[in-house]
Amino acid sequence: MHPTDALYDFAQRYLPGGVCASARANAALGHPFYVSRGDGPFVYDLDGREYVDMCLSHGASLLGHNHPRLKAAVQQALELGIICSYETEHHSRLAARLAEMVPCAEMSRFAGSGTETVMHAVRLARAVTGRMKLIKFEGHFHGYADSVYHSSAPRVDQAGPAEAPITIAESAGMPAHERELVIVVPFNDPVALEQAFARHAAESAALILEPVNYDSGCILPEPGFLQTCRALCDRYGMLLVFDEVLTAFRFHPGCAQGYYGVTPDLAVLGKALGGGVPISAICGRREVMLGYRPTGDCEHSGTYLAHLTTVLGAVAALDEYSQPGFYPRLNALAERFYAGFRELIARSGVPMQLQTMGPRFGMYFGVTEPVRNYRQAARQDRGMLLAFVRGCIERGVYFHVAAHHGLSAAHTEAELDRALAAIEGALGDVARGAAL
Ligand SMILES: Cc1ncc(COP(=O)(O)O)c(C=O)c1O
Repeated sequence: MHPTDALYDFAQRYLPGGVCASARANAALGHPFYVSRGDGPFVYDLDGREYVDMCLSHGASLLGHNHPRLKAAVQQALELGIICSYETEHHSRLAARLAEMVPCAEMSRFAGSGTETVMHAVRLARAVTGRMKLIKFEGHFHGYADSVYHSSAPRVDQAGPAEAPITIAESAGMPAHERELVIVVPFNDPVALEQAFARHAAESAALILEPVNYDSGCILPEPGFLQTCRALCDRYGMLLVFDEVLTAFRFHPGCAQGYYGVTPDLAVLGKALGGGVPISAICGRREVMLGYRPTGDCEHSGTYLAHLTTVLGAVAALDEYSQPGFYPRLNALAERFYAGFRELIARSGVPMQLQTMGPRFGMYFGVTEPVRNYRQAARQDRGMLLAFVRGCIERGVYFHVAAHHGLSAAHTEAELDRALAAIEGALGDVARGAAL
């Protein structure tokens, strides 16, 4: 039996579905993509075969794998005693660093996953406004907490009219009353948003959104749309919350808010913040953040919050992102890759859209017009996507079947050219109807 099949058999005995996170089940392969280690732009499978990684820990590993600066930071935390549940000088230094880099980040708190931090951001918004509803956009994902895990990827035939979507719980086991607190609006539709505010703002704490909707591939906010979100929140006394779990430090040192020049009241930063160590941050305006205990009355605490390993890791990652030329090089590398990818798409005749922002991108197979909201993204032909992913993996390039993909600062033109060669082959598979 091949080692992958043996491990999958074994894993299924002890882990539901053979995985530790549902998203790691891989529909293109029929088993998880097992990795033995990672290094720079590569991951290695159980046989030691090398793959150019275009998933990058779902966006966390913006520096690639095994980065020496990050390793040194983790090593330092080990030498300091693997301490947790204590405050150190490094914690407030990290918060001060965020205040320098990120426009809204007058104050910060830290936790592990993005899910956890979004949950805390929602509680804080409710605590300081005294209102319980949330307005969110269809196709925007904010983690798995019951308060927000709605309409991030609903079945379109169940989701009601495009201009007034029904709120859909994304998992069994979520209490129905949570759904009643979430108002769902189509992205990039200022008229529908104004209507939602007019109807629900008096009872709503916050508008929460991904400023770039990578979780539906890569949907950019249309010119002026983020400003409309800001203006409506100001007019109705609601908080604007940017979920920057994916956009944090992705293409600009000030995150999406720095790039677009729209400052939210609160933001959640994750993934690239730690570059692969599990840390996320909630940051925001001083008077809102002081709503947390002990200055306010909103709870945010926990044994493992802001573990020193992750705090030092985040400082190291921010040091890298602050190097002169980091973003120009990364963004230029990405643009060169996208130009090659677009040429291959045109040559292959595969109907698809490639949408990009900085070093992360979305692919919409079978879609022939630019995608500006979730309903258009949901028209994607999943069979074609699976065939493409399979074709790339066979040729030594790892794509996940998730909505967004990317490259890291560890990638060079050489690895991206290898990726393009595999993509050319995989597009050929798709064109030949491998999906069918
Ligand atoms: C925009 C966004 N918010 C929240 C989350 C949840 O973060 P985590 O996976 O760290 O819990 C994700 C994760 O994919 C995300 O993309």
